[in-house]
Amino acid sequence: MKIMLFDAKPYDRLYFEEANKDFGFEISYTDSTLSEHTAILASGYDAVCPFVDCTVDKKVIDTLKNEGVKIIALRSAGYNNVDYHYAESLSIPVVRVPAYSPHAVAEHSFALLLAIVRKLTHAYVRTREFNFSLNGLVGFDLNGKTIGIIGTGKIGKAAISIAKGFGMKVLAYDPFPSAIKGVEFTDLDTLLQQSDIVSLYCPLTNDNKHMINRGTLKMMKPSAVIVNTSRGALIDSEALLDALKEKKIRAAALDVYEEETGIFYTDQSDTGIEDDTLARLISMPNVIITSHQGYLTEEALRAISQTTLSNIREFAEGRELTNLVK
Ligand code: NAI
Repeated sequence: MKIMLFDAKPYDRLYFEEANKDFGFEISYTDSTLSEHTAILASGYDAVCPFVDCTVDKKVIDTLKNEGVKIIALRSAGYNNVDYHYAESLSIPVVRVPAYSPHAVAEHSFALLLAIVRKLTHAYVRTREFNFSLNGLVGFDLNGKTIGIIGTGKIGKAAISIAKGFGMKVLAYDPFPSAIKGVEFTDLDTLLQQSDIVSLYCPLTNDNKHMINRGTLKMMKPSAVIVNTSRGALIDSEALLDALKEKKIRAAALDVYEEETGIFYTDQSDTGIEDDTLARLISMPNVIITSHQGYLTEEALRAISQTTLSNIREFAEGRELTNLVK
């Protein structure tokens, strides 16, 4: 199998080369994201490996088909960026990595939460400038607070164990709840009304775009913190910005942003960004934003490369595809 890995970063190359010692595929790497303009780069390859910021729509899939690509092997859990129904109609299977390290993302959500709650970014900047004043750095305890977990799959469950370790009360909402010790399942409105921290761990689907919107933000406590390490479009960013400006909620900690494609994973320090909503969010003292790095741990990268290549091997050997998106 010849594989073209799009949007390849140095850490992708490192971990894919390491994993490929067990597989022996021919892998090429390109910095380009997969789009209608770059899909032609897949010419002569059997498999393409796009990342979450690649838009794999009908036009891209048509080009891939014409160029002889036989399988789309996502190296991510989320697949909202791929028109997999269309790919299926052209007999191109889409496979993904459903689980690599749920702990990586869950732990990052708590890193963000602690950073915002204990004002660590401000403290860090101060001490670097030898400013040892504590004025304005008063935080609050997580112990005894209520966290609302939206989505209790693999990452949500990992987050629940962390929350319990902090001594938090855990509420949860999931359309498919399964009993979890020490967790009270509620409807979404109750969760939003009663939680001190609301944290999202659900996929982005056709039904839940902007599930956090002007209406649902109004239900939250003015002291509430919202955390999103799932997908940006779960939150209406402009409504979030307004809620923060009007002090309808206390703070936001985000690893994802609805218009992150083309911005996240790139260095725009020379040019700045055109997205005013993102720029304004970044400028706020009660917002922390990371560039979709929840998954970025050694353990996760190792598991992602191994599962991706194993998915491709299953296809090459004509076996049933364990991680087929359907
Ligand atoms: P999972 O499939 O194990 O669990 C998702 C859970 O969300 C399921 O229990 C499902 O019933 C529930 N759910 C579905 N629709 C919902 C809704 N409208 N409201 C509440 N719950 C809903 O998925 P996993 O592995 O826990 O990942 C969750 C999401 O995290 C992924 O879909 C992806 O978007 C995001 N993610 C983010 C990463 C990052 O680097 N920031 C890395 C990996 C995943």
